[in-house]
Amino acid sequence: MIDSKPIYVLAIESSCDDTSAAVLCNDKVLSNVVATQKIHEEYGGVVPELASRAHQQNIVPVVHQALTRANIDKKQLSAIAFTRGPGLMGSLLVGTSFAKSLALGLNIPLIEVNHMQAHILAHFINEENAKIPQFPFLAMTISGGHTQIVLVRDFFNMEVQGETLDDAVGEAFDKSAKLLGLPYPGGPLLDKYAQLGNPRKFKFPKPKVDGLNFSFSGLKTSILYFIQKETGDNPDFINENLNDICASIQYTIVEILMAKLNKAVKETGIKTIAIGGGVSANSGIRQALKISETDYGWTTFIPKFEYCTDNAAMIGIVGYLKYRKGLFAEQSVLAKARYSI
Ligand code: KG4
Ligand code: ZN
Repeated sequence: MIDSKPIYVLAIESSCDDTSAAVLCNDKVLSNVVATQKIHEEYGGVVPELASRAHQQNIVPVVHQALTRANIDKKQLSAIAFTRGPGLMGSLLVGTSFAKSLALGLNIPLIEVNHMQAHILAHFINEENAKIPQFPFLAMTISGGHTQIVLVRDFFNMEVQGETLDDAVGEAFDKSAKLLGLPYPGGPLLDKYAQLGNPRKFKFPKPKVDGLNFSFSGLKTSILYFIQKETGDNPDFINENLNDICASIQYTIVEILMAKLNKAVKETGIKTIAIGGGVSANSGIRQALKISETDYGWTTFIPKFEYCTDNAAMIGIVGYLKYRKGLFAEQSVLAKARYSI
């Protein structure tokens, strides 16, 4: 039975380099505050030690802002949800300890959330005019930290069908962009230039990986050799061909993702596809999914961008769903850097 009293969940996300807090009333988001850590830009990637320190600085103001924007007093909260893992241990510890102390202080339930489940269940945030996928569906989570295809039978019945054996797809974008001299994180910039270029100008090899797993490290190496060779012949090669190089890299990555999705659809017979993670913003993957609707009869779902990248609202929706089932955590719960679905 669903309690008719509104459930207010404060959710905290701190698995990588974004400190985020959100307040939900049932499945609706009242606030979703994200503090992105700029400090990592100068290092060209996330520095774990700096990330946990920044989380410590950000967490109190971010939580305060989330409550203020939602116009909710902490005494009204029904539960605290937090990301238990997977992620960077130092970063996870900040959110975990904060959530545990707050739940203890307020004497309300504590709810632990798997970050990867949250990326998928973000599709169930109640947004005006948003479509919700029907079970069962296939979820593809694509971000700087993860690349997975998951068979989702129900809210808490999920099975990983395939995942990356090395780099995540976001890393493939960012590392390729770095080779082209673009600033970190280069994925969005690579996408921007790709839209102006010819995707078939340069050919990059696609990895041969069994089943529904992915691999992106070979692609990165082949791009490196390609750039080294071409700039050896012409030092201005990148400048003169930037759009075409970006378009060709993006085309290759999208082809790799779509080939595995196609295989997953064939193997499972499921044509409902939901994607999540920061790379869902990519214009190439969005276009490919749109085409698949008309060409293969798929039904595809992409959440609002705010809920694709790392955010606490997605932790909050899982918090709400677990609250309804009474799935609470003990105070002894520990952060888990490796935490499978
Ligand atoms: O989900 P997210 O915010 O954080 C995690 O990594 O968990 O994803 C960030 C990743 C970065 O690698 C970024 O370059 C990539 O998503 N990204 C994109 C685009 N927008 C963000 N990659 C390609 N095209 C984009 N438009
Ligand atoms: Zn993520």
